Amino acid sequence: MARPNFFEHLHPPTIPAREARFGYTFGLGGMSLLLFLSLIVTGVPLMFVYVPTAVSAAESIRTITFVAPYGWLLRNLHYWAAVLLLLTASLHLLRIVFSGSYKKPRQFNWLLGFIILMLSLLLSFSGYVLRWDVDTYGALTVGTHITQQVPLIGNWLYRLLVGGADISDTTLVRFYTWHTLGLVVPVLLLIGWHAFRVRRDGGIAHREATAVSGKPARISRRELVQREGVAALAILCLLFLLSIFWDAPLAPPVTPFAGPLAETSHIAAPWFFLWIQALLRLWPPLWAGVVVPLVVVLLLALLPWVLDRREDGTAVWFHPSGRWAQIVVGAITVGIIILTIVEWRQ
Ligand code: HEM
Repeated sequence: MARPNFFEHLHPPTIPAREARFGYTFGLGGMSLLLFLSLIVTGVPLMFVYVPTAVSAAESIRTITFVAPYGWLLRNLHYWAAVLLLLTASLHLLRIVFSGSYKKPRQFNWLLGFIILMLSLLLSFSGYVLRWDVDTYGALTVGTHITQQVPLIGNWLYRLLVGGADISDTTLVRFYTWHTLGLVVPVLLLIGWHAFRVRRDGGIAHREATAVSGKPARISRRELVQREGVAALAILCLLFLLSIFWDAPLAPPVTPFAGPLAETSHIAAPWFFLWIQALLRLWPPLWAGVVVPLVVVLLLALLPWVLDRREDGTAVWFHPSGRWAQIVVGAITVGIIILTIVEWRQ
């Protein structure tokens, strides 16, 4: 028998067939991992051309897009990998909720996964700021001022993010360092820990490994790696198609230090924060920008402890024991989607 290759070594010799069914996990965790790695592979070459100073940042993005050989493709791949990562990781979260896979002993891995998703959102926001154009400058101004609303530590948080009293070169250097190092390294380590915990917790949640309609109860890791290869190819094809046909956004550059919002005719939050921008039209910043997002984050982070502590119904789609968790997560998802669409159409 052939010796296992590198990818096969990452898996146990055999796994229950039900765990490996694409129709159960949809390969969303693996796709998220691949997209995160794609972000590193496409991000490092971008660092050779991008200049993190207020006067040159927007110009260097134009150099990447219009002058550097295949720079446009690299930038588009980086942009679309970031979009797809947030989508696949969020869908992965929904799969975990609606199949009850967050239950004992996987509560801790739920928390790890959720922290990875939150850090991925911050990674995307910090990347958005690096464009340093009128859209991103406006979002940065609003976003950093929202932090001032946080009771007690607001001003400290603002100065920590911005690097002084006002947005300046220091702000850009800070966001650049968070984006290329300060967030990437922790996310990489956390993904490794998350994957380790999947095995430690007994593999992907499953009821029992009995043979279904004559199919084997367990499959070999070779077969699993082949299936993962097909899912990887599919997501890479989608990534390339999006990148070839749809360009990453580019708005006019902002004149550095023109004063908060002086140059920006409108505020354009990145797509994943449009729902907060919609709330900001309805409620004061403390509620729309701090209280509501914080409640959503805490409810989701603590879901296995607050909304459903029972063990039964693990790995069963829409099991009644997880009703509250399903209703709350379903309502949050629908709310975010509706607010995003409403704000998009403004
Ligand atoms: C970049 C982000 C993420 C990556 C790369 C990732 C990766 C993975 C992988 C490869 C698996 C194995 C099963 C599968 O593919 O579905 C998995 C399982 C799991 N993930 Fe994630 N994940 C991420 C985000 C999340 C998030 C946001 C959550 C929830 C808040 C989460 C919670 C879990 C849990 C509880 C399991 C075990 C589920 C089971 O046994 O069926 N993960 N993750």
